[in-house]
Amino acid sequence: MDKIVIEGGKRLKGAVSISGAKNAALPVMAACLLTGGWHRLKRIPRLRDIQTIQRIMTDLGTAFKEEGGALEVNSDHLTGYQAPYDLVKTMRASILLLGPLLARCGRAKISLPGGCAIGARPINLHLKALVAMGADIYLEHGYINARANRLNGANIFFDIPTVTGTENIMMAAVTARGSTILKNAANEPEVQDLADMLRSMGADIEGDGTDTIVIQGVNHLRPCQHEIIPDRIEAGTFMIGAAITRGDITIDACLPGHLISLVEKLELAGADVDTGDRCMTIRGPDRIQSVDIKTMPYPGFPTDLQAQFMTLMAVADGWSMIRETIFENRFIHVSELRRMGADIEINGSQALVKGKDRLFSAPVMATDLRASASLVLAGLVAEGGRTEVHRIYHLDRGYEAIEEKFKGLGAAIWRESE
Ligand code: EPU
Repeated sequence: MDKIVIEGGKRLKGAVSISGAKNAALPVMAACLLTGGWHRLKRIPRLRDIQTIQRIMTDLGTAFKEEGGALEVNSDHLTGYQAPYDLVKTMRASILLLGPLLARCGRAKISLPGGCAIGARPINLHLKALVAMGADIYLEHGYINARANRLNGANIFFDIPTVTGTENIMMAAVTARGSTILKNAANEPEVQDLADMLRSMGADIEGDGTDTIVIQGVNHLRPCQHEIIPDRIEAGTFMIGAAITRGDITIDACLPGHLISLVEKLELAGADVDTGDRCMTIRGPDRIQSVDIKTMPYPGFPTDLQAQFMTLMAVADGWSMIRETIFENRFIHVSELRRMGADIEINGSQALVKGKDRLFSAPVMATDLRASASLVLAGLVAEGGRTEVHRIYHLDRGYEAIEEKFKGLGAAIWRESE
């Protein structure tokens, strides 16, 4: 197994280019199950989670080939409808296969995802919506078994806006009989990206990007070409990297409009942020000011950047309050940051961070993707030698060549075998 080693203290400088978004690429790949023919997907990031969904889809009969920098996907001859425990346990987002398999094959058998490090993460809202659309669903031996001859459109209210839940039901509804109205739907950019792809396939969808999405079922879909949106969480992680190291970096191939909540918080923390159409420049302040944040559904502050922002606040002037409202256990990074000298007190869903002058290098590890990213950021400013971040398979699930990109910005960071 590999680890990432960082010698802190370098200011980030230069330019970095953002990869396609993991959380947009996964549903878009799942959507390729909806119809045959060759789909052409551009900007699919090279990540472990992408390999995982590709493996499951290959077992279902989907063919993949790389052609001219794009991933081509063909689901002409599906031979199965099952996502097995061994793969689903490594990636909960496998649940995204449920809606398209049911719509295309009338059957799906997906291992029920368990909880993960950040919370229990139930999928009851996905299942409730599919039942409302006429699916027959039962749980047996740890698997969700779903059947439906043809799904019917339905009025669906999500008790909580759920990102993959909204995506799953959108995919199930595009070929359902009649119209489906999703209320209190998630409006994250990744949901909009999937809606764009589905429209290119011939689906009739309106309202994505708001909390009400209306889908009129169609009889036929066609393969399409689609380019994945830039990863706003990767971009945000580099923005925080610039702020924490008092760096000066340009972030290319990103969509600043997807990061307005982070831009505002970084400016309050003293950073200078210039946003262009598809790029941004960030200059970190000499002294970082403390700022409170509360995670919220889009366009609020993303839970996927909470850990990274907490690292920034760990070296800010003064106290900040960080509230996590999306997941019940998303402070896994706190005990590791404390080992690097951070002063953080947790009280339920709130973390009170008392900014310190410095952090110190230490061996650390985390059991979650974004928590691991927060430790890399801490390593970039830690004093006193090498910070070693262990268990980096979490990072490899969601960040494309993170150490290469930070190295390109002047950080002393590399990967070593354990
Ligand atoms: N929830 C339910 N029932 C459901 C579905 C969700 O109670 O049936 C609850 C969850 O427990 C949570 C809240 O609703 O408290 C929101 O969860 P959501 O369903 O929106 O999360 P998700 O779809 O499982 C996606 C991202 C996560 C990201 C969240 C929130 C993907 C593949 N994953 O998860 O990304 O944190 O939305 O924005 O899109 C990551 O990339 O590190 C990551 C965890």
